[in-house]
Amino acid sequence: MSQFDDNENISINPSRAEHFNQLVDRVVSRRGILKSGLGLSAVAFLGGSLAACSSDGGTDPVAPVPPQAPMLNFKQVSVGSGDAIVVPEGYVAEAFVPWGTPLVKGAPAWKPDGSNTGADQALQMGDNHDGMHYFPISGSNSSEGLLVMNHEYINPEYFFAYEPGQTDVFGTWTLDKVRKAQHAHGVSVVHIKKDAAGKWQLVVGSAYNRRIHGNTPMLMTGTAAGHALLKTSADPFGSYAFGTLNNCGNGYTPWGSYITCEENFNGYFGTTVSGASQTALMKRYGLSSGRSGYRWEDFDNRFDWAKEPNESNRFGWIVEIDPFDPTSTPKKRTALGRFKHENAAYAIAADGRVVVYMGDDQAGEFVYKFVSDGKYDAANPTAPTNRNLLESGKLYVARFSDGATKGDSMGTGEWLLLDKEANASLKADATLPDQASVLINARQAGTVAGATPMDRPEWVSVHPTTKEVYLTLTNNSGRSTTDDANPRTSNVYGQIIRWRETGGDAAALTFEWDHFVLAGNPSATPLKSAGSSNINAGNTFNSPDGLAFDHDGRLWIQTDGSAANTGNYAGQGNNQMLVADPKTREIRRFLVGPSGCEITGITFTPDMKTLFINVQHPGELGSHPNRPTIPTGTSADVYTLQNPLVFSKWPDANGGRPRSATVIITKADGGKIGS
Ligand code: FEO
Ligand code: CA
Ligand code: CA
Repeated sequence: MSQFDDNENISINPSRAEHFNQLVDRVVSRRGILKSGLGLSAVAFLGGSLAACSSDGGTDPVAPVPPQAPMLNFKQVSVGSGDAIVVPEGYVAEAFVPWGTPLVKGAPAWKPDGSNTGADQALQMGDNHDGMHYFPISGSNSSEGLLVMNHEYINPEYFFAYEPGQTDVFGTWTLDKVRKAQHAHGVSVVHIKKDAAGKWQLVVGSAYNRRIHGNTPMLMTGTAAGHALLKTSADPFGSYAFGTLNNCGNGYTPWGSYITCEENFNGYFGTTVSGASQTALMKRYGLSSGRSGYRWEDFDNRFDWAKEPNESNRFGWIVEIDPFDPTSTPKKRTALGRFKHENAAYAIAADGRVVVYMGDDQAGEFVYKFVSDGKYDAANPTAPTNRNLLESGKLYVARFSDGATKGDSMGTGEWLLLDKEANASLKADATLPDQASVLINARQAGTVAGATPMDRPEWVSVHPTTKEVYLTLTNNSGRSTTDDANPRTSNVYGQIIRWRETGGDAAALTFEWDHFVLAGNPSATPLKSAGSSNINAGNTFNSPDGLAFDHDGRLWIQTDGSAANTGNYAGQGNNQMLVADPKTREIRRFLVGPSGCEITGITFTPDMKTLFINVQHPGELGSHPNRPTIPTGTSADVYTLQNPLVFSKWPDANGGRPRSATVIITKADGGKIGS
């Protein structure tokens, strides 16, 4: 998480209380569920396979192969606070395409002193690698493909060159520095291929290599396109946006497109106008009332909300990209709603419609799903009709209820339709005058509809065969009231919740849920802090974030939490990646990251012999036990800028500065990951 993002642990959702009529709705609908005989027990989650469900789902379009060997067939690694990647015996991990790597034709070399320009950065790998997907160049090719990844934000304490005597991290602040920062965000399309020795290489000079960044032209599509709230002085039609920002988790589609998710866009907007007042919409999405942390408004008026009040409404969307057409225009898909999008996981409904599950990462915000109007043509994956399935559909928000028994970590749920006409509560709400307003202010629409405020929804992943949906709720230290889905006050550890749609149909309007794991620390003080029974001293962790099933049905869990290794977090070390068996609920630690990083982004080659993950922001000081002592009177950021290797040297042991990078993980014997 960036130091410039507003604190995601702080809820800015103003209406947490359940209205009486919503309570009545809940009782009535619960009765309906019971009458329809859908009272499955939690046991159904543990081994269930739904024979009737589609084979299309939220993992790569490869036929799943049930593993014969034990699902977690590796020796787990220990926690650690070191400055290196640690993987199990028999595995090899190698850094790849770090920030600044020349990518597009004509790109200059990365300068280890941080002095590359804005123009340089537009042609180089962006910063803070995040969500990622491997697209085979054709078929199920596991030796050549397009590795497409997000770049979420920048770390100014490492991003610019140190200027002797500077007293704040920005130094002499210029338009070129603003452009450099904007160009380090967005998406990279990276053509990769194994060489004769079987080692992955960037295909230098490939026409596929592409940077999409904070100034790349994009098309607004769907119901909200053209709405008054999207019109700006640069785009009086509300149809063309400029750039994508804070690209966090990702998704992909069976028709070959990449989805990038705009998360903490609010952090880029501030104002230099004193006394300017914000709209309710700006407040609900957490725009700074004064200056922004990134300070782009100093040189670029579109990031000054008093001067361009609608520009921020053009961020917070799902963006669909065709990685195989370097000239294609990315499309912002307004039908999927505007919020702080974490990632996007698809499933195919029983009738062929496409379902996309999404979380809004802020304390007390909601879980959503989109159901397309059109149906997926599985026989013709690249058909034009498939390519436009995210253009229109229904948007739902989740209500998690306690179910028949309180306090049992399971319950029932409903999907509430966010439709201005069909939803009586929305129809009666004058603050959301039309469907475009509902989509642009999806958070408020969710509140009006009666959605359940959650403990910071992060990544969603759909099991490749059972179609059960798993979601990380990373933490919520500010929670003061509980429900069964969010059962702990002052929740510093987080949990993973999962649900089974009624009838196994992704388009169903009801579901049953349970907790897969309550993260915790067996050595910490009580208050339910030990976690659920599948947490032990050997696998303890906090703040689950990235989440993905592999082709064989293992669940990979990545963390972005405290690396303090003391107090609540004693014995948990650096951020890490674990693997779980969904049937047995066993969890083992697979990887520990270097100092100050989070682990995020995950994708596999179809043959399961290469695993790609991202190490994001190595070197962020946080509360790390090896944090350097900062001289009195010096800002930690300026000290770090002046001494960039003082805390982390990853991945360049001999020079430069810590930088985000992809990590390629293989088995030394060439076998399948996890086998
Ligand atoms: Fe960008 Fe919620 O992580
Ligand atoms: Ca319950
Ligand atoms: Ca994340």
